[in-house]
Amino acid sequence: MTQDEAKRLVAKRAVEFVEDGMAVGLGTGSTSRMFIEELGAKVKASGIKIRCVASSDASKALGESLGLEVVSLAELPELDVYIDGADEVARDADGSLALIKGGGGALLREKIVASSAKKFIVVVDSSKVVAKLGKFPLPIEVIKMALPLVEGKLTELGLNPKQRKAKDGSVYLTDENNYILDCSVGVIENPEETAAEVRGIVGVVEHGLFLGMAAMALVAGDDGVTEMQG
Ligand code: A5P
Repeated sequence: MTQDEAKRLVAKRAVEFVEDGMAVGLGTGSTSRMFIEELGAKVKASGIKIRCVASSDASKALGESLGLEVVSLAELPELDVYIDGADEVARDADGSLALIKGGGGALLREKIVASSAKKFIVVVDSSKVVAKLGKFPLPIEVIKMALPLVEGKLTELGLNPKQRKAKDGSVYLTDENNYILDCSVGVIENPEETAAEVRGIVGVVEHGLFLGMAAMALVAGDDGVTEMQG
């Protein structure tokens, strides 16, 4: 099974968790894109009524193009479920799910939407499941003015920050108009400690460690979709 086939498979499974009347958080990235497509198809075919909040401008535009009602978090502050991808999924020492997110640059809004949902379900292909987080560079969103300060502090912590560039070589900007520093951390032995260190730096808006937030991960591979409970 290709990675794209696995993403499609898990996207199809994830729509089963959406029921009539629900408030649904839409994630960001290629797996979420497939989930939004499947959700649009389900709503059209079944006539269920749902309302959505998106974690990025791109997901909002996609959802609306497929006929989904996408409103602001102010209009719909409590979500029944949030479904989104991840760059890495691991089990933390306490058995909960630990994620790296933000490869698509939407980590700040993703964390806000995830925090507004009763249930956060992660959708990934099996290549994203790792024993320990850290091979994927940890994205950190930074206020523009604070870039040199934050870069210096992250370097002192040994986190090897590198400013993200857009595909055309220009400086990458998030939907909230901030910069992203991608940190080649290596194995993250203690994600809570790393999260606290990063959080403590003035000018850091958010980091891509999502610890103990996901209730479940749906993981697609050659054997179909398996569930990892958080
Ligand atoms: C977006 O900012 C990310 O958190 C994505 O959810 C993550 O990068 C996974 O993306 P893919 O589904 O494209 O692998």
